[in-house]
Amino acid sequence: MRTVHWLFVVSVGLFISGIAFVVAGGRAARLAPRAEVTAITPVASIKQIMNGITEPASAVIYGAVGTTVTAKGMEETAPRTDKEWAAVGNSAAALAESGNLLLVGGRAVDNGDWTMMARELVGASKLALEAARGKSTDGILSAGGAINETCDKCHEKYKRQ
Ligand code: HEC
Repeated sequence: MRTVHWLFVVSVGLFISGIAFVVAGGRAARLAPRAEVTAITPVASIKQIMNGITEPASAVIYGAVGTTVTAKGMEETAPRTDKEWAAVGNSAAALAESGNLLLVGGRAVDNGDWTMMARELVGASKLALEAARGKSTDGILSAGGAINETCDKCHEKYKRQ
């Protein structure tokens, strides 16, 4: 009787670990990337990223919300429609990715301040993205300030004049 009992315990154990295997396998399959990551060849120089992505994307955010004084009086600028808010969000997303581009393809100048400052640009851009999602004009204004600081900080240290 005792032998049968132990055989039973061992087979139950094997059965459970078998199930655990299948579950873990299934999880690993779900977590696996859908496509193989292919090696990419960087194309743009830092200057081209700045002029082609960073600068125009930041201009959209700076220009999205504000007050202009005209002959007719004060005029408030702000995105009004869903489409206009989405456009601000798109530029915020592009701006964030331009920060990521500064960290890949051998563009990172060092692992210290450069990396930190590029990440700050990504972080400040994400604030603008969240503000656009929440349709917050105040959020866009404060994100704009934070974004502008990251440009100045990095240029002060790394931009060749
Ligand atoms: C992590 C560093 C870094 C951040 C952050 C950064 N820049 Fe730059 N930027 C550079 C460097 C380096 C150059 C000089 C590139 C060169 O001349 O090769 C540059 C150059 C530029 C130029 C001049 C390009 C030219 O034609 O000479 C513009 C415009 C510019 N950046 C805009 C911005 C704006 C706007 C932001 C913020 C939204 C920003 N940059 C954030 C590093 C940065």
